[in-house]
Amino acid sequence: MTAPAPIQKHTFQVFRDVPPLRALRREILLANRTVGLVPTMGALHEGHLALIRQAAAENTDVIVSIFVNPTQFGVNEDLASYPRTWDSDVAKLEALNAELGQATTNQDTTTSPPQGRITAILAPTAQVMYPTVPPSSEIDGDGSFVTITPIARRLEGASRPVFFRGVATVCMKLFNIVGAERAYFGQKDIQQTVVIRRMVKDFHVDTEIKIGATVREADGLAMSSRNVYLGARRRAVGLVLYRALKAAEERYAAGRTVQRRAILDAAEAVTQQVRAEQEALAPTQRARFEVDYISLADPDTLEELEVVDPAKGAILSGAIKMAPLEETVPGEDCGLGEGKVPVRLIDNLIFAPRA
Ligand code: PAF
Repeated sequence: MTAPAPIQKHTFQVFRDVPPLRALRREILLANRTVGLVPTMGALHEGHLALIRQAAAENTDVIVSIFVNPTQFGVNEDLASYPRTWDSDVAKLEALNAELGQATTNQDTTTSPPQGRITAILAPTAQVMYPTVPPSSEIDGDGSFVTITPIARRLEGASRPVFFRGVATVCMKLFNIVGAERAYFGQKDIQQTVVIRRMVKDFHVDTEIKIGATVREADGLAMSSRNVYLGARRRAVGLVLYRALKAAEERYAAGRTVQRRAILDAAEAVTQQVRAEQEALAPTQRARFEVDYISLADPDTLEELEVVDPAKGAILSGAIKMAPLEETVPGEDCGLGEGKVPVRLIDNLIFAPRA
């Protein structure tokens, strides 16, 4: 009698530690297959799934990392309250693997490269990722860190001084652990992509960085794991950032100007109007926000531009802080945290180089 087949809990393996994952990586390499790494902090949404689909179209094996990285949260930031949704993340990855498996069945491999699948999730502990000195979120804290300056100090870095140090450090660790041919990041976190591209170049990391388009809700709001905190009222007003960026983009795209002031004025007109509308409402109806920055910057260095060179293009990006709701009404959809959690929204549009 043959032994019963082992129960396969998932269609992918889950790794908590480095050596077993490295063994799998070696097998993949020896079989002439390729790895696409999709780093995440979990709380997966359509944006992540789109990156995984892209990785599966370009590699035979996809490794998704899920790790809420403590070093990219400042001491006063939301590490403890960051959404942790392991069961639903795994369910989403299972459903996606079924979809990818279907695509494999229907595929004509004579005309397209073989469709990949999610082979593994890497979900390490903090002790695995930071094996010696406990991770520090202090600006001058000790530890083995990767710093990419001055890019990391600009824009998001101005209000989140340890953020890109943490991101670069954890991505360097993940790149060293996985040794992927390609790693996938969303355009939504545009500064992160610029930092990672610079890191890979400066440290000769043999992983190609691929950027997936920002995935948006039907009305244009960029998908983000933090959107669950918004609730209906702040979600509606939070769209102001995208609308402001679109107004600036339209002014540039219409070919009327390449001047910073004129481009950014179009964005400011939108934010000022929405802010005035909200201020005029009662505390039970309004959602207050502050604009942190709207930036028009060089695509490689993120230095602010006075004039856009159309041959090089630019990155138009912004951040707003949605304040906690002042007063809520019974039965109102206030989002996770009952409207009390301040929410930082970021978004960007790329002005592509013109021929
Ligand atoms: O974009 C994210 O989710 C994180 O910054 C990343 C790249 C997974 C590093 O922790």
